Amino acid sequence: MSTWANLGLQDSASPLMEQLIFFHDHTLLILVMITVLVGYLMFMLFYNNYINRFLLHGQLIEMIWTILPAIILLFIALPSLRLLYLLDEINEPSVTLKSIGHQWYWSYEYSDFNNIEFDSYMVPTNELETDGFRLLDVDNRIVLPMNSQIRILVTAADVIHSWTIPALGVKVDGTPGRLNQTNFFINRPGLFYGQCSEICGANHSFMPIVIESVPVNYF
Ligand code: CUA
Repeated sequence: MSTWANLGLQDSASPLMEQLIFFHDHTLLILVMITVLVGYLMFMLFYNNYINRFLLHGQLIEMIWTILPAIILLFIALPSLRLLYLLDEINEPSVTLKSIGHQWYWSYEYSDFNNIEFDSYMVPTNELETDGFRLLDVDNRIVLPMNSQIRILVTAADVIHSWTIPALGVKVDGTPGRLNQTNFFINRPGLFYGQCSEICGANHSFMPIVIESVPVNYF
């Protein structure tokens, strides 16, 4: 989870989130280089006194500064597409979790594992344990095995919700009448916190998600 003064991305808990962070850093580096170059050129324009009365066209430089940015964009577009397709890849999930968004709580079903069904409500501030996280802890956590492929199916019962866990790189909308699918692989044990991220009504802020990741033999 995010703690004080953590303004960047959270530490990843899945290979896909790790790749997303690498892609973010890569793209940010390119962005910084472009900003510095363009900023420098614009700044220097104010201080130059060169005038060329015969300058009408520059075919060569036009070619260069058209093609060069296109090539730079390819260096962002290709890794981005790679990640996009990687995020949708499903490989033999061992557990399927179905999460249903309600106003304003989540309910879960382990459809292929003992048919477990339960609701998961936020713990209200006045009932919180001393070590609880305000607006983030829930009464019933999702327990999932680590080092396993997990499929999640997301839907909603009333309005659009969004099942979002930053550390796992998962963000799927739950839409009434539709069933969305994604998958993830948790590579360490621990608690991973998330929140709904579609503005779904008055208590939108109060429907957090908590995953308890445990070794497979404890699951
Ligand atoms: Cu559910 Cu916002």
